[in-house]
Amino acid sequence: MKLGVCYYPEHWPPERWAIDAHQMRAVGISIVRIAEFAWTLMEPRQGAYTWDWLDNAIETLTAEGHQIVLCTPTAAPPAWMIQSHPDILPMDEDGRRRSFGSRRHYCPNNPTFHTHTERITRAMAERYAPNPTVIGWQIDNEFGCYFARCYCENCTKSFRSWLQAKYQSLEALNHAWGTVFWSQIYDNWEQITHPNLTVAEPNPSHVLDFYDFASDSWTAYQQLQIDTLREIIPPQQFITHNIISSLTALDYHDLACNLDFVSWDSYPTGYAETESQNLYADEGAAAPYAYDLGDPMITGFFHAMTRGLKQAPFWVMEQQTGAINWSAYNTGVRPGALYLWTWQAVASGAEAVVYFRWRAARYGIEQHHAGLRHHDGSPDNGYDDLLAVKAEHQQLENFAAQPLHVPIGILLDYRTLWAIEMQPHRKGFSLLKHLFVFYRACKALGLEPDIISPKAELGRYKIIIAPSAFLANEALAQVLADFVALGGSLMLGVRSGVKDTCNVVTDQPLPGVLRELAGIVVAQWHALPAKISYPIQSEILNIGSESTFWVEALDPAEGTTILASYPSPPFEGLAAITQKKHGKGQVIYCGIYPQFEQAVALVRHLAEAQAIPMLDIPVGLSVLRRGKDLLALNFTEAPITFTVNGKKHHVAARNLIIVME
Ligand code: GAL
Ligand code: ZN
Repeated sequence: MKLGVCYYPEHWPPERWAIDAHQMRAVGISIVRIAEFAWTLMEPRQGAYTWDWLDNAIETLTAEGHQIVLCTPTAAPPAWMIQSHPDILPMDEDGRRRSFGSRRHYCPNNPTFHTHTERITRAMAERYAPNPTVIGWQIDNEFGCYFARCYCENCTKSFRSWLQAKYQSLEALNHAWGTVFWSQIYDNWEQITHPNLTVAEPNPSHVLDFYDFASDSWTAYQQLQIDTLREIIPPQQFITHNIISSLTALDYHDLACNLDFVSWDSYPTGYAETESQNLYADEGAAAPYAYDLGDPMITGFFHAMTRGLKQAPFWVMEQQTGAINWSAYNTGVRPGALYLWTWQAVASGAEAVVYFRWRAARYGIEQHHAGLRHHDGSPDNGYDDLLAVKAEHQQLENFAAQPLHVPIGILLDYRTLWAIEMQPHRKGFSLLKHLFVFYRACKALGLEPDIISPKAELGRYKIIIAPSAFLANEALAQVLADFVALGGSLMLGVRSGVKDTCNVVTDQPLPGVLRELAGIVVAQWHALPAKISYPIQSEILNIGSESTFWVEALDPAEGTTILASYPSPPFEGLAAITQKKHGKGQVIYCGIYPQFEQAVALVRHLAEAQAIPMLDIPVGLSVLRRGKDLLALNFTEAPITFTVNGKKHHVAARNLIIVME
């Protein structure tokens, strides 16, 4: 387990570098990430490289014993490049060309930009790959930030080639997209454009493929850099990219595939503010202390998601240290916040936590963004927290050396997410919210889930929860059936199996290709407005007596057990939740959209069947089990007591304890 910091030597006089390097070491930092926006300083004119400053910075940092993570600078293309090739600039959905003057101003499909990218990556790699203090490379910075989908003419061409490769013939495309609807049939590839600026809403199959193509564009662009780096760098130098886990426009499963490990940028107070409305069903539901401490459920959800991308440990490449500058309130953080965040990250599987940033910037748009040190160089409050982390370094390492228990996988499929996002049907229906309620339910029972792709290795989990397997095909049905055949418990949620993977509704009774596995037919479904609920009856402990939001009436096949049913019209006599056994495995079909307590009841029911030991975790406490140790983090302002094996434990306010089970 290592601690690091994001550093911008180019923002400070060279005389300062040695002092900074020394102070970093004093606080337990041993990794420094540099250079991700410094392209113009490395290449002030095309092909003319200036490495002296970077050589010196690296030398000064490594003289203090630091290891270096070097970033390719492609998130900030130089002015000279844009001036000679303005077509590198991306085009937005409204058809406007964006301009130079901030960052991330490039189209990932621009061939000229590919040449420049390949050149700077090669030049950097040739210069620094031989340096043994360079431990690895970060490619670019936060793909998809600000805009993830470019609508320029180069993208049009690339989109057509992508479609040709996928469908081979226009007939196949017309068929897959159902272009017969509203006379959208194409008879020439050139007629296909981006699905923007249409008069009414565009064809959902067209949109889904465009989203997928746009996501693939970043993966392909990243691959260009991976290939260039791999040709030159030694095998021990890693390649990673720092994702924004909350961003849903990129298929991170694809993006993660060829990286050695994934990194993410964790800004707990920012995400509590900006993401709570995307995650909680009740949009104001983030914890009251979240404004200056973050919401441990939101932060933990993104840790679980990032870990799930490769089902492996990850890095936090940017860890918030103080006030940010991009949310609405940008509150300062509490003393102690960094300490809790660092423990939570490491306990969740982070092998390194790299703080953003060393010192607050004096210029540029991030002037009011805090770092570990103030503008004047004196310590900000995160710095003291780091001293607390340093004092417990060994304890942290011992804890993290033990295996993390992750008995549950929650399925996230990005095409499904996009398909639901473009046609939610009922206001507020979102795959992410549906995932999040199950994530919180697991946590309330002391269980840690991975958020994973349906293509991940499912066999390592005892329970798989597919909150909505909306887009489904035979391959998915087979993968899930195989999991169940091995004795696993699968939960399928509402709106499963509704469509094929081209975003076209199935012609089979619902849940389509998942029907046999589930052992039911969805006879009817209703989207319910707020305040309307249908009564349910069930023996599942604490499932309650109401269903809200989205309800499905299930007709069980022979051999399927009813776990909950509707006692009154309009679904009277039909089932709400069912269970179908397949050998030692089982499938629960949950025809209600669960509120939090209902999700807890369902996860408890599933975990009991798999004999997974559970705990009762009070709200505000977050626990993570590693080996026989259990870390309990209390993010609230009051002490919390909880029980493990009949023994009571007290966790002081905004503090943590480790309990031996
Ligand atoms: C990240 C970004 C950093 C910095 C930071 C500010 O998204 O990667 O470069 O801008 O946000 O919070
Ligand atoms: Zn473009």
